[in-house]
Amino acid sequence: MNITLSPTTNTTHIDHKKINATSKEIKTFYDEATEDYTFWSQDFNMHFGYFSFGKTNLFLRDTMLNEMNSQVLKRLELSSSKQLVADLGCGMGGTMRHFLHRHSLLCMIGVTLSDFQVAEGNKLLKKYPAVIVKEDFRNTSIETNSVDGAIAIESFCHTGHNIKTLKEAHRILKPSKRLIIGDAFLKKSPDQLCFGSSYSYKKLCEKWSLEGLGVIQEVEENLKKIGFSKVSVEDISPRVAPSVFHVPFAIPLFLLKKILKREPIKKQSWDNLKASFYALTSGLHMKDFGYYLITAEK
Ligand SMILES: C[S@@+](CC[C@H](N)C(=O)[O-])C[C@H]1O[C@@H](n2cnc3c(N)ncnc32)[C@H](O)[C@@H]1O
Repeated sequence: MNITLSPTTNTTHIDHKKINATSKEIKTFYDEATEDYTFWSQDFNMHFGYFSFGKTNLFLRDTMLNEMNSQVLKRLELSSSKQLVADLGCGMGGTMRHFLHRHSLLCMIGVTLSDFQVAEGNKLLKKYPAVIVKEDFRNTSIETNSVDGAIAIESFCHTGHNIKTLKEAHRILKPSKRLIIGDAFLKKSPDQLCFGSSYSYKKLCEKWSLEGLGVIQEVEENLKKIGFSKVSVEDISPRVAPSVFHVPFAIPLFLLKKILKREPIKKQSWDNLKASFYALTSGLHMKDFGYYLITAEK
């Protein structure tokens, strides 16, 4: 493997058809709103959590958010020897730090579109053999057949879990190694959603700059078509629900803190708050939405 552990920029142009999720919009959103996530997670986890009896506390959000990291790490089935893992859509590297703390011979590369996350995330990764680079996860500079694992937690939704995104993950993985996706998916096509689901879905995509959520059955089929041999799909919605129910409490507290500090609330912060609310309303439509962990082996 030949990975340079220093931040780089890949200027590949990607053609976007949908207005919700151009690279520029995603970059601006995360450049401006990433700081707000300290309110959601002290460890900078930019995702929902996984409730596990005995391991997590319903009232301590970060225990659940970190348990999501642990569940993803477990499914990678890494060996105890030197390993390289790619985090495709890594945010501030919260998951990367969680993994690196637990596996002493692990090296990691994270990719994001946000300059803020590259700059600040790399500061937090200083003591680890890891780097965050500014690249598009549909077209990375990572060598073919070079990584021992790839993960994507709540990031592939920005490209609608599309084939191009899944193919790139397949390309970089060594044979027999795994891609783990943790994300929300649709259970039916968008035109079959009821009025409430459809409205929540539209707003969720608009406010979080998502191209759309993949339909779970289609994503499973696509992974197999691309060449993943073993694909396992787990509906973990009940495990994720407790952290989603933190949203109605977290939003007013975040706003109160801003008001007391007399800090202005940026457009991206409002969008983030509204999207979190629509994630909750979407989650209540259990026939239409689900949160899944997908394990796919090359
Ligand atoms: C909700 S955050 C999740 C971050 C991280 N996985 C976590 O759970 O903490 C989504 C991340 O996906 C990244 N992202 C979205 N679209 C991307 C793309 N096309 N290429 C690379 N990164 C992308 C964003 O920059 C952001 O870092």
